[in-house]
Order: sequence, then C-alpha cells, then structure tokens
Amino acid sequence: MSSSDDDEKKSGAEKILDMLRQAGVSTENLDEKKHAFWDTQPMPHGQQSDLPEGPIVPNKNPDEIRSEPYNMPTGFEWSTLDIMDPVQREELYTLLANNYVEDDDALFRFDYSKEFLEWALTPPGYSTELLLGVRATSSKKLIAFISAVPANVKVQSTSRLDVVEINFLCVHKKLRAKRLAPVLIKEITRRVNQTGVFQAVYTAGVVLPVPVASARYYHRSLNPKKLVRVGFSRLNPRMTMARMQKLYKVPDTPKHDLIPMTEEHVDGVHKLLSAYLESKFLLHVNFSKEDVAHWLLPRTGVVDSYVLVDEQDKTKVTDMVSFYHLPSTILGKDDTLYAAYSYYNVATTMSLLDLMRDALILANSTGTDVFNALNLMENDTYLEELKFGKGDGNLQYYVYNWSCPSMKASDVGIVLL
Ligand SMILES: CC(C)(COP(=O)(O)OP(=O)(O)OC[C@H]1O[C@@H](n2cnc3c(N)ncnc32)[C@H](O)[C@@H]1OP(=O)(O)O)[C@@H](O)C(=O)NCCC(=O)NCCS
Repeated sequence: MSSSDDDEKKSGAEKILDMLRQAGVSTENLDEKKHAFWDTQPMPHGQQSDLPEGPIVPNKNPDEIRSEPYNMPTGFEWSTLDIMDPVQREELYTLLANNYVEDDDALFRFDYSKEFLEWALTPPGYSTELLLGVRATSSKKLIAFISAVPANVKVQSTSRLDVVEINFLCVHKKLRAKRLAPVLIKEITRRVNQTGVFQAVYTAGVVLPVPVASARYYHRSLNPKKLVRVGFSRLNPRMTMARMQKLYKVPDTPKHDLIPMTEEHVDGVHKLLSAYLESKFLLHVNFSKEDVAHWLLPRTGVVDSYVLVDEQDKTKVTDMVSFYHLPSTILGKDDTLYAAYSYYNVATTMSLLDLMRDALILANSTGTDVFNALNLMENDTYLEELKFGKGDGNLQYYVYNWSCPSMKASDVGIVLL
C-alpha cells in the first residue's frame, strides 16, 4: 500500500499527530489522554484537522458574548489587579513567589521580581480588566491569577492578527486540583472576547490539545560552582571543578562595541527587528515602535538590551542583543539562582554566534549564574558552539481558537516571558 493510501485511511486525529511529530512536537499523552476542559475548547482537535487556516469558532457579535462573569465557588470572588499600585503588585509577587512554576524535582521556583511583573503586565494597550485575580471573600487574600496583554502577531499566512498573550496562570497550592484553572481560563476568554479579540498565544510546559510548536530549553553555565552546589548542574565523574570553571569561563569584556539601548535607538531597533522577524519566522509579533520601547528599553534587573550602531549613521542599528532576568528561588536553601533568558537578537555585521558570545559576557557581568535560551528562532546555530547544555523541559506553544499547520521551533519568533 502506498503512503498516500495510508494517509487516506488515517483519521483526522492521526493525521494531526503525524504532523506534530514531523514538526518535532512531543505528542506524548496526546494520543489517548482525555481533557475534561481542554477537549471542550476551540483548539485543533483530531476531528477538526481538515479545517482551513483561521479561527475554529467564528468571531462573536457583542450580544453573543456572555455579559456576566463566570461563577466562582462560594467563598471566592473575582478581583482585577492594579499592577501599578505597589500594594497590589506586592500581593501578586507573593502569590507567584510561593506558588508559581517549579521544576519537576521541586528544587527551584520562578521568582519574578515586582519590577519584572510591572514590565510584563503593562505593555501598550494593557487593561486592568485583563489582569484577573481571585480573592478569598472573607480574608481578601489573593489566591489565583491569570493575565492577558494585547499583541498583534503574524501566524503562518495570516500577516496581522490581534491576539492576547496569556501568562501567569497560578492557583494557590492549597487550592489545586479543584478545577479553578478552567474557570480562570473561561473568564479571561470572556473578558478578552468583550474587547473584540478571539485568539490568544500562550506557552506551557504541559502538553494540552494541541501545540502549534514545541521548543526546548538550553542552559549555559556561567557560575558552574554555584550551579553544582545548588543542584542545578552535576559534576561529571571525569571532570574536576577547576576544569569545569575553566571550561565555562567567559572574557571580562565583549568583543564588539555594543552599547545599552536608549530612546534614540527605538526607531532603529524597530526597523531591524521587524524586518528580521518578518523575513524569517512563521509566528512572530508585529511590534509597533511603542511596543519596542516598552519591551526592549533596558530596565535594571529586568531586561537588558544592547545595540551596535552604524559608524556613519548613528541612528542605524545594525545588530541587537537582549535578555531578561528571571531568578528562581532555591527551595529550602534561602538562596537565589540568577538566570538570564535570551530574548530578541539580530546580527547583521557579525554572526549570531559572535553576538551571543558577547551576550554571555554581558550577562555574566551582571551576576548571572546561568544563561538560558530556547531552541527557537536561529538559536540552534550557536547553542552547541557556545557550550549550552540541553535542558530536560519542553515548552509548548499554543494559539487559542486558531487552526493552522504545526511548525518547527525554528519557525517560532516569539519569546513569551
Ligand atoms: C497550572 C495551575 C493553575 C493548574 O491548576 P490546578 O489546580 O493544578 O488544576 P485544576 O484542577 O484547576 O484544572 C485542571 C485543568 O487545567 C489544565 N491545566 C493545567 N495546567 C495548565 C496550564 N499551564 N495551562 C492551561 N491549562 C492547564 C489541566 O490540563 C486541566 O484541564 P483538562 O482536564 O482539560 O486537562 C496550577 O497547577 C498552578 O498554579 N501551577 C503552578 C504554576 C503553573 O505551572 N502555571 C502555568 C504556567 S504555564
């Protein structure tokens, strides 16, 4: 039997699983696992795999969108969060610092700083209505959260699509497995729909129906001694600590004249980054100049961006490199692991490898213990040479209510925080 006959006999579900596997997406658990909530959502499920590229459920008119919030279980209430209010920002910080993402071995938990949360949740066009918390009715304690911030993306052949980026879904540890997360997701969807937006981009470590792409984290040791001490890395039996430190040592100063990005580079960075993303990737943000200023102007301890400018025309940015700072609490040790994450990088006068070598030096000079990068965009071109090690976690990318072919990690040009 020819392979095309084989294909014809396959169900829609099998075809989509094949597509995902070919694109390198992990389909573990997807074959048989039932998702009481996600199976009800407009995501590319098996039987819909022949849908044309576009929305799975058509956009709704305002009068078709439920006007009342979804019910919270007795004892809990919805509460939007004003992230610019220091008290409320602290409340969100505390919820996440104690309850947000941990690694599989429960050694580390993300410790997004308050300044980081302000950055992540206030891009141009953000709305407090979409920074959605849940409080205990009696104590008013914040016990759950989910956020949506606006973006415009290109996805496959659709060059402009208004979406939200969903992030910071968190339920207090004492309230887990009570089906609160689906209510949070439904309520944020309702609120986003009320703004006339019907698609969302989000990432998760877990495999849900159905990822559009799957990426992998890679880690570059900068402070191997600490990484071994806290259990992040292991000392290979044939390796000594002295040799390991030598192996990962980086120079004190970068090779190129990279300077911190300022307001006057916003136009140049916008031009360089937009052209790069547009020419290379199937899923990327269409940044406005205001977005570039928000997401890339340096904020101490939050995001660092450096540019190389043309010698004749100082307004022209030829290369850029950026990374954000997301420390993790080392659980049970009253200590912090300082991690920088590769963000948006464009090289035109040098190789990306050369540029990223300088990124490691710059990150190291701010006290970073480990530099992390996903294998998306063109990152594969430097990971091995710059001594990144493969992590054990995948990061799945999802586009809510959108049917389109799955893609390789190297087709993805979005980094979500
Ligand atoms: C993620 C989290 C909010 C889920 O809450 P929970 O109490 O464990 O689970 P609930 O009983 O409320 O809901 C379970 C449903 O949520 C889904 N779910 C779990 N994690 C999810 C995620 N990251 N994104 C979307 N849905 C998720 C489950 O698949 C399940 O739906 P299903 O039956 O259709 O498969 C909670 O575990 C948490 O706060 N974890 C730490 C922070 C975290 O990992 N956040 C997600 C970052 S991507």
